[in-house]
Amino acid sequence: MSTALILVGGFGTRLRPLTLSRPKPLVEFANKPMLLHQIEALVKAGVRRVILAVSYRAEQMEQQLTVEADKLGVELLFSLESEPLGTAGPLALARSLLLTPSNEPFFVLNSDIICDFPFTEMIAFHKAHGGEGTIAVTKVEEPSKYGVVVYDGLSGRIKSFIEKPQEFVSNKINAGMYILSPKVLDRIELKPTSIEKEVFPHMAADGALFAMELPGFWMDVGQPRDFLTGLSLYLGSVRQSNPDSLYNGPGVVGNVLVDPSARIGQNCRIGPNVAIGPDVSVEDGVCIKRSVILKGATVRSHSWLEGCIIGWRSVVGRWVRMENNTVLGEDVIVKDELYINGGQVLPHKSIAASVTEPQIIM
Ligand code: GDD
Ligand code: MG
Repeated sequence: MSTALILVGGFGTRLRPLTLSRPKPLVEFANKPMLLHQIEALVKAGVRRVILAVSYRAEQMEQQLTVEADKLGVELLFSLESEPLGTAGPLALARSLLLTPSNEPFFVLNSDIICDFPFTEMIAFHKAHGGEGTIAVTKVEEPSKYGVVVYDGLSGRIKSFIEKPQEFVSNKINAGMYILSPKVLDRIELKPTSIEKEVFPHMAADGALFAMELPGFWMDVGQPRDFLTGLSLYLGSVRQSNPDSLYNGPGVVGNVLVDPSARIGQNCRIGPNVAIGPDVSVEDGVCIKRSVILKGATVRSHSWLEGCIIGWRSVVGRWVRMENNTVLGEDVIVKDELYINGGQVLPHKSIAASVTEPQIIM
């Protein structure tokens, strides 16, 4: 299978304030743009051509990703929507790119999911059942915010697909990765369309859609709490597959990723489940748990962070305490000795008073 289309539109509102500065797929997850995790895994499975279905901020993506794609030896194409076409419309728009002379099936991916990406297994499964589509499914505790799938345990044939059901149907959900045969394009018109609401239910009714259960971890990392949970799961998987890439300095607890260009002071306690990006400065006596510090940020001495995402070039003062899914946008300053509980701080703000209740700070 040589072609993949990645859905990278959508405004990423649930990952604000980070997505006010850059599109969701370019936000670094474990020190790498989210989208690159997927593109690298696709290349490993033999994909040679990746179409990015983009509805806004295409230039920023083009600039950053073309360089990376060249390194990976993969052709990157942009399919630009003049109005957001949802999750199916982009396939109609890219129709001519998806149709190949050999009539090959292609991958379609949501761009905000993280897992071990078992694309080779998906290809084998798709070939074996011979239907129009394969979707990867996974089990979650709270299925209501996902697409729920009911299928035959033996054959994988899907009986019904219900997007974000109000009532409990099943805890098996759509993991946001598909293989589709070109035939599926005949089901999609060029207009804003939801693949989950307007295409999959019909394919299921026709018996043409099959589910492959995903081995290993999975997370939609499109909102702060899940972003941090996803990081813990991802680092746990890295511990199994590539433990040498984890950080091993003094004061480290559990699974931690630190870019080589980051500076970590004396007597810090870092981890578990922390990612520290390039050019970050962590001063002496800092404690960081279950958090992400993005490129160029500074955490000054004796601060304590748990469950935080610190935006690019932000500065956290001395003796600050921050927790409970606090997200600092790009270039935020938090003054010394403050307490921030679940604050979402917009880019370029300076915070001079404590925030004791979760709220958006504009
Ligand atoms: N090109 C384009 N245009 N892409 C879009 C558009 C659009 O108008 N709208 C959304 N997308 C992209 C998003 O960037 C994301 O990669 C993907 O489509 C899914 O959109 P989300 O907004 O993240 O959907 P969701 O998380 O609520 O639900 C989807 O993902 C779940 C798994 O994470 C559904 O596919 C569910 O069925 C699924 O369980
Ligand atoms: Mg999502």
